[in-house]
This record gives sequence, structure tokens and C-alpha cells, in this order.
Amino acid sequence: MCGIIGYTGKKEAEEIMLDALEVLEYRGYDSAGIAVCGSDGGVQIRKCAGRVKDLRSLCERVKVSGACGIGHTRWATHGGVSDENAHPHMFGNVTVIHNGIIENYKRLIGKYDLQEKLQSQTDSEVVAAVLEHFYNGDPYAAIRKTVLKLKGTFALGIMFGDIPDTVFAVRNVSPIVIARAEEGSMMASDVTVLGQYSKEYFVLPEFHVAVLKKEGIELYDMSGEAVEPQWLTVSWDVNRSSKGGYPFYMEKEIMEQPEVIWETIEPRIKNGLPDLESDGIPDSLLKECSHICVVACGTAMHAGLVGKALMQSLVKMHMDVELASEFMYTDSLVDEKTLVIAISQSGETIDTLEALKYAKKNGAKTLAIVNVKGASIARESEHVIYTNAGPEIAVASTKAYTTQLAVLYLLTGRMAYVRGIFDEAKTKEFTAELMRVPAVMQEVLDRREEIHYIARSILNAKDVFMIGRGLDYSILLEGSLKLKEISYIHSEAYASGELKHGTIALITEDTPVVAVITQDKVQSKEFSNIKEVQSRGAEVILFMKESYRLDQDAAWDSVFKLPEMRDEFMVMPVSAALQLLAYYVSLDKGLDVDKPRNLAKVVTVE
Ligand code: AGP
Repeated sequence: MCGIIGYTGKKEAEEIMLDALEVLEYRGYDSAGIAVCGSDGGVQIRKCAGRVKDLRSLCERVKVSGACGIGHTRWATHGGVSDENAHPHMFGNVTVIHNGIIENYKRLIGKYDLQEKLQSQTDSEVVAAVLEHFYNGDPYAAIRKTVLKLKGTFALGIMFGDIPDTVFAVRNVSPIVIARAEEGSMMASDVTVLGQYSKEYFVLPEFHVAVLKKEGIELYDMSGEAVEPQWLTVSWDVNRSSKGGYPFYMEKEIMEQPEVIWETIEPRIKNGLPDLESDGIPDSLLKECSHICVVACGTAMHAGLVGKALMQSLVKMHMDVELASEFMYTDSLVDEKTLVIAISQSGETIDTLEALKYAKKNGAKTLAIVNVKGASIARESEHVIYTNAGPEIAVASTKAYTTQLAVLYLLTGRMAYVRGIFDEAKTKEFTAELMRVPAVMQEVLDRREEIHYIARSILNAKDVFMIGRGLDYSILLEGSLKLKEISYIHSEAYASGELKHGTIALITEDTPVVAVITQDKVQSKEFSNIKEVQSRGAEVILFMKESYRLDQDAAWDSVFKLPEMRDEFMVMPVSAALQLLAYYVSLDKGLDVDKPRNLAKVVTVE
């Protein structure tokens, strides 16, 4: 997704914005640019298709100077990847950067007779043109009139050539955070950029105008009334936003999991019991719902699948897990007895945000599990539990996933306790096992070179199948996504029992099959499913509980014995192992592990 940055203060804007754009690279992009406003008001633009490093070289070749500016990394939606389509876009006196999609931009081209005047094929340049159309010296009036004409999502950074040292910001759905720093005033798409400059920020409310000046920040509503910002504090330390000596953020974030899982659960355990009071989650919410529905995308949805297995087996609670992008179009059955849980690392995934709004409209109670404080999904939901994973920079989600699981374990334990399904002793046992998770995961991480060795066997694979039952199947859906999204190897996760109903036709000599066996109740069935694929020549990589006995006369290519936990907690050590498997395949293939092709960290388009 596009990244935006704006700055005005005492320092040269170019350096601050180029550094900030490098932090925003993780969002996924294909071109970048900055606009700098000199003290005389003149605005100069430097932009190009390619990486931020290409933009940096362009700025070195053609110097630009000024202490106020806006910057942008573009993930192409309207118009191909080209220098002309890169942001910022200037039209007359107005310069704009934009994250989002203007759905009615073609109608605006006709309405304001722009056909012959545009330089690019983007919807964003049309926004600059409409602002210019309404601008007659009053920036607030021009912005207000323009946003009323726009249909769609937008986070806009705006400069007016005759108003030096000032950046304006306005949004609808797409995120903007604003910070006051020693260096001046800043705006950005997300707080990971601002952490190195300031600990204090606020989320720009929708349809409000922020005015960033050297001396401070002003905030106005659409009627022009001044509004006091709701200031927040950056909830993680800045060096968590750096690579910490690892070659890729993904490895660092995999290795951080024991620590951040502990930081997520420890504050929510009192006298050995899960306690969500500090999150403002009333026991009544967990007691009175008769049905739970998770809405989420990608990895967050896979976390929901684990939650479903826990809730149904331990709490006897009926739980659906819906793809957020499908939820609104499949007449999902939610009502006031439904608790809808929106899971999202970024808190900005528009599919999940729109599904949450749909659920609220249908009377459901809502709870969000989010990693980024103050994100749109957190603010839209009645209740929120923040994961304490810290900034997750790699596109492939790892620590966010396992801290989402940690929150789901807390919710399961609390719900079982308040609904009288677990007595105090049983709840404390469950919670004590949850508290073992960080140490058990660390055992797997300490053996990562074993997994690196196993990874070599699938480095050149074209297709990899992953088979398991129950919770093992849920874990493998996530493991398969990890492998696909960072190694570009086609992978499919299958319920072992389903394989013989068709897909086993694809298993031939040396087909790599990853199998996971951690659930006692299906252990024997899983071993016989493995025999089925082995008899057809498959090369099996097995992750299993260390206590299980292997059939000695079977030919085992790779076996990784997992440290033991209660079955319902084995998700955690297995997840670490499968994350490492995908990571090492991508690393040894020499790919850009943190920024896989075609992918963005935050998907703010439907
Ligand atoms: C996971 O590795 C991917 N980055 C992607 O599937 C991601 O989980 C999905 O886009 C949801 O993002 P969110 O958690 O920020 O809502």
C-alpha cells in the first residue's frame, strides 16, 4: 500500500523524508517521490519509478532545498508504474500525495474539463486539479469543497505554493497519524515512521483538516471549528523498528516471538487467571454471546481458525471464521447475540474494516484484536485488545500471528472460566500452560539451523503439499501461506483425510509433502495418511511431537521432533518451525524476504 509522509520544521525536509520513505518501504511500492517547498514558497518535485534509493540518487543529482515537504511511496492502482504516475502530483498552485482510491475520478475529469490538462493516468492528480479549481487563497475552503466531491478512500498530504512551510492533511478511511517532534511537525501513513522522531502522536480523525506548521499543529473539523487532538504515546521502543543486526526484519520478528508473546499475556494474567479488565472487556461480553464470528484476512484469518478450534472444543461455543472480503457478500448471519471479532495486525485492512462496520450495522457486539494502537479497526470496534508485538515490518506476518493466538488463548480461558466450564483450578492449569509458550517456542528457535537444513530439501520445489488434521491443518494453512508469499513456491495445505478425494492424484515420485502431527486423538490416522503419500513416492518432511513413535521401516526424509505441550498449545512451537522453514527457503533462494513481489504489508484497497 502507498506510504505518505509530510514534514515542516527547522531541518532540511529532503533528508527527513527520504529516511522516512525508507521506513515506509515495507508497505510495498513501485515508485517514490518528494516535493519540497522552499521558504520563497516555490515547490520542487523529485519523483521516479523504482526504489527509494533511486529517488535518493535523483535528489543527489538534482538538489532540492527547503524545510517543508511531502513524500510518497506508490503501490500502483490507477495507472501503470511510471515517473509521471509517481507522486507527488502538482496542478497549478497545488501539490498532493494520496493513499487510497477515488472511485469517481473519471466523472470529476469530465465535470472539471480536465481531459487535456492531466500529465498522468492517476486518480490522485485529479484530486490536485479539483483542489486547484476551488483554491482562491483560502486553503480550508478549497479542501472542504474538494473532499465533498470525492467518492472513495483518501489520505491526502497537500501543499499550496503560496503558503510556505505549511502542510495540510485530510483523510477518509486511509490512515494518517500526526506527530509533534523536536524537528517540527510530521504526518505519516503509520506510526512506525514517526517513532524515531516523536513519542507523541494522534490519529487524524476522518474529515478533519490538520495544518502542520513549524511552530505547531492545528486541527479543524469540516465546519472550520478548531478541535483538540486526542494525543497518544508511541507504545513501543524505537529500536524495535530497526533490523537489530538480522539480515531481514522477518528473522528478527520470528526471534522476538517469545518476548512479545510474554509481553502480550503477562499483563493480562492476575492470580493465575486470564484477566481482561485492563482492556475494558466486561465478563458480560463473554458470558452473554451465543455465537462468535471472526472476520479477518490472510494470516489474521488463520489465527481465527485456531481460535475456532479452541472455542469449540474447550468452551463449546459455536464459532465461524469468515474471510472479511466475503463476509458482506454472503449474507452472513450476525445479530445482537453475536460477538464479531475483527483480527488485524495493521488495523487498517479495508476488507476487515468494512466487515466490522457491516457487523455493527447488523447489531453484533464487536471486539478487535489489533497490533497498531489507535488504528481504524481499533477505533471502529466497541472493544479492543492490543497485541504487544511491536512494529511488524516484514510483509510476512509472524509475531503478529502468534500474539493474536496468545490473545485468543486468553479469551478462551476467560470465557471458559466466566461461563463456568472451567473451574478455577482448571483455568489456572490452562493459563499455566499458556505461560510456558515463550520458553517452548524458544527451544524451537534455538534449533533453527536444523530447520535451515531441512529447508534445503524444498529449495527448488515447484509444488509443496502440506497435510494435517484438526489444529494441525489450521496451522498448515498458515505455514503454506508463509511459504507461498516469500519463496514464490506453489504450496497447498490439505486436511490429510481429504487428500484421497482427489488431490493425491498429484502426488508422484519425490513430491515434497510437509506433514504435522501433534494431536493425540488423530495421531494414528495422520500416520496412515502419510503412508498413503509415501507409497506414491512423496518425500515427507515431518514435524511431530517428540514422544510419538516412528514406524521404523518407513523411509523418513526429514523429521523434526517438537518440544511437548498440551495438544491445544502445540500450535505455538509448530508455527515457529513453519515460519523458519519458509524464511530459510526464501533466504537461500536469494529473494527479498521482507518485501515479496506484488505484496503490500497493509491492504487498504478492496
Ligand atoms: C500475511 O503474512 C500477509 N502479510 C497478509 O495475509 C496479512 O495477514 C493480511 O493482509 C491481513 O493483514 P492485517 O492483519 O494487517 O489485517
